[in-house]
Amino acid sequence: MKIGIIGSGDVAKALGAGFLKHGHEVMMGTREPAKLADWAGQHPKGRVGSFTATAAFAELAVLAVKGTVVADVVRAAGVANLTGKTVIDATNPIADAPPANGVLKFFTNLDESLLERLQREFAGIRFVKAFNSVGATSMVNPQFKGGQPTMFICGNDEAAKKVVTSILDQFGWETADMGQAEAARAIEPLCMLWCIPGFLRNDWVHAFKLLK
Ligand SMILES: NC(=O)c1ccc[n+]([C@@H]2O[C@H](COP(=O)([O-])OP(=O)(O)OC[C@H]3O[C@@H](n4cnc5c(N)ncnc54)[C@H](OP(=O)(O)O)[C@@H]3O)[C@@H](O)[C@H]2O)c1
Repeated sequence: MKIGIIGSGDVAKALGAGFLKHGHEVMMGTREPAKLADWAGQHPKGRVGSFTATAAFAELAVLAVKGTVVADVVRAAGVANLTGKTVIDATNPIADAPPANGVLKFFTNLDESLLERLQREFAGIRFVKAFNSVGATSMVNPQFKGGQPTMFICGNDEAAKKVVTSILDQFGWETADMGQAEAARAIEPLCMLWCIPGFLRNDWVHAFKLLK
């Protein structure tokens, strides 16, 4: 598939490399292409463009930008360029405030997630929450002693979730579909839980597994 990754940070770079490794075409979107010069040098098949060019290029897009600006970034990328498309939302609603004893602060609340805000504002986009509850270095085919980790996903469009599940299969994850957009109220705070061992003990290599 043609994958448009909107972002230039650790998540964008890791997922961009992962999609290329699995044979997809990739364009990375940023306001500052210089930020991706090293990545582009290491991944000559990957392209770098603006937010708009990346959204237009995408058959499937990934949002990998700072949570506080993600709605602005969708507008900047051009809503029409993403309408009707599957868009993986890897963002987290982390507030511009320091963590308290290792616990991040969110600008959303337990009755309204960032994914729901995006889905409400951009109703024609098929958002799927995924990749938000694990660190960038473990997103692509991670190897854990404890076995295959679980990626929790949600979204209102069943076909879009099937596409994302097939990508997660390629990326070495078991997928747990938690249902509609409201489930992001529970999936987004997994990021807080995931980060606590990192902030408290500098332990950033772990993932969640759903045992049945
Ligand atoms: N880091 C992780 O391990 C991890 C894991 C799971 C989920 N996440 C979530 O994934 C998202 C990306 O995280 P990250 O660590 O890779 O990068 P990040 O530092 O959170 O975000 C960098 C991206 O945000 C964009 N950005 C920042 N301020 C902006 C503004 N005012 N206007 C427009 N764009 C702006 C930048 O655009 P330019 O390229 O144009 O500068 C850049 O692409 C975040 O929501 C994060 O919470 C992160």
